[in-house]
Amino acid sequence: MIMDGNGRWAKKRFMPRIMGHKRGVETVRDVVRQCIDLGVEYLTLFAFSSENWRRPPDEVKFLMGLFMEALGREAKKLHDNQVRLVIIGDRSRFDPALIEAIAEAEQLTRNNMRLTLTIAANYGGRWDITQAIHRMLRDYPELSGSFGEADMAPYLAMHYAPEPDLFIRTGGEQRISNFLLWQLAYTELYFTDTLWPDFDRAEFERAINSYHHRERRFGRTSEQIDEQHCEKQDE
Ligand code: IPE
Ligand code: IPE
Ligand code: MG
Repeated sequence: MIMDGNGRWAKKRFMPRIMGHKRGVETVRDVVRQCIDLGVEYLTLFAFSSENWRRPPDEVKFLMGLFMEALGREAKKLHDNQVRLVIIGDRSRFDPALIEAIAEAEQLTRNNMRLTLTIAANYGGRWDITQAIHRMLRDYPELSGSFGEADMAPYLAMHYAPEPDLFIRTGGEQRISNFLLWQLAYTELYFTDTLWPDFDRAEFERAINSYHHRERRFGRTSEQIDEQHCEKQDE
């Protein structure tokens, strides 16, 4: 999910942008709860892009503080709900205290199986692909002239997860903004004008409902997909 529209939500209410971010955290809590209820196994949220450093320093500082605060307050609760927390992105630019808090929360929740909640922070899809190539070639220099897609997979930031089924972006923009470029290759895309702080249960259900009406062909024909369904039913 690309959680977009916090700033506009606040602006509409004549409040500073940061109030939108604050409200956005509430929505995160609700969406996580809903995923647990629905049996969703992987939820990935784009919280801060590698380009978001371009924002006014005050806003960046507030967002970092909010992340730190939310980790401190929620890590234990996530753990109690058997949620595994993973942070992807280049964390080297974060405050040492934040780096530490991230490591602790990941360590605490690492064996949980119910829901894997991935937060993408200082994440960029291009960064991900580039770091994967670097690390792969460090481990296997002999691959430099001959590596394939499968060689890359274990080095991508989300190596632990299946490819995403559904992508949701709130806030009306219809773009990927450097989110999971590799992983979204065959993901179903869903865009809504609803601003992130307004993205409630009904909105999430609408998105899931839209997903259920898609035909995922992965390059095959519609007829082949029908055959597959028949074979499955015969089994
Ligand atoms: C998304 O909301 C939150 C982050 C990018 C951190 P925005 O802050 O981008 O909200 P708009 O797009 O300005 O309304
Ligand atoms: C994308 O939102 C990043 C996050 C939600 C974290 P932005 O609001 O930064 O995206 P652009 O710049 O409008 O594409
Ligand atoms: Mg935005």
